[in-house]
Amino acid sequence: MPARERLPALNAEAVPMADPAVSAALAADADGALRLLREGALTVHGRVADASNAVLYCTATLDGVTAPCVYKPVAGERPLWDFPDGTLAGREVASYEVSAATGWALIPPTVLREGPHGAGMVQLWVEPDPEAPELLDLQDPAGAEPGWLPIIRAEVGEGRTALLVHRDDDRLRRLALLDAVLNNADRKGGHWIAAADGRLYGIDHGVTFAVPGKLRTLLWGWAEQPVPEDALDVLGGLAETLDGALAERLRPHLTEAELQATRGRVAELRRTGRHPLPSPDWPSIPWPPV
Ligand SMILES: Nc1ncnc2c1ncn2[C@@H]1O[C@H](COP(=O)(O)OP(=O)(O)OP(=O)(O)O)[C@@H](O)[C@H]1O
Ligand SMILES: [Mg+2]
Repeated sequence: MPARERLPALNAEAVPMADPAVSAALAADADGALRLLREGALTVHGRVADASNAVLYCTATLDGVTAPCVYKPVAGERPLWDFPDGTLAGREVASYEVSAATGWALIPPTVLREGPHGAGMVQLWVEPDPEAPELLDLQDPAGAEPGWLPIIRAEVGEGRTALLVHRDDDRLRRLALLDAVLNNADRKGGHWIAAADGRLYGIDHGVTFAVPGKLRTLLWGWAEQPVPEDALDVLGGLAETLDGALAERLRPHLTEAELQATRGRVAELRRTGRHPLPSPDWPSIPWPPV
């Protein structure tokens, strides 16, 4: 892996963009997308600026089909003292596997493979829809407006406070549950993307699956509320496959203790039937929030 500085920064005007027809076809065919990512020829176009680890914008080409993707080489990862085992890339793939097992398709197809800078995770690029409605807002501290849910009161300068809110949106609610299962320590506002097809995707799942509770997210609007029936059914299915096929898919990326803790989080969600509350022992809101 060349030093970060020697990887060219991305020139957004010069890179190939996603073809909407190809993106739509891949969104409907996860197996095809996984094959493209796993077997396709990777071309690196540049480094996504400002990321804390090496995040490379690439294209993958297979059988005449080309789609943009991100490639995060393990060699470009900064070590984290509180995630001593495994790799960020491995946990991103494990997160994708859990998302895929829910059927909610909240994480773009993601694989682990060799690339021009060694082994790394490769994930389908999701083009944000510039017209998509905002999912976060700052509102009057007196209370959230209809259709919005409160996160926290925040200082917004000159002694003024505002209420940080997120939308009461079913896609975000499923993402909140997925994060509770993954024990995601970094669900800030920049870590979801609303795509033009109306779907919402989570990205950046490198700090997940810790054994101790580390859930850090903006999506607290449903804290302690009952988990919807259909989501409880999904959690039931997840519990089953975590003892079977999904466990086998996660084992290359997680320790046995992490796998067992994942089963425990699913069991706890099913036992209480409620969305979790923020932990008093852990900074539960990412700051800054985007
Ligand atoms: N699958 C994807 N589709 C579209 N854009 C993506 C995808 N993955 C990453 N990005 C873009 O690359 C940026 C950096 O990626 P990511 O957040 O995963 O890396 P990071 O090293 O954790 O960066 P940071 O420290 O900024 O969180 C994201 O903010 C997003 O703009
Ligand atoms: Mg990030």
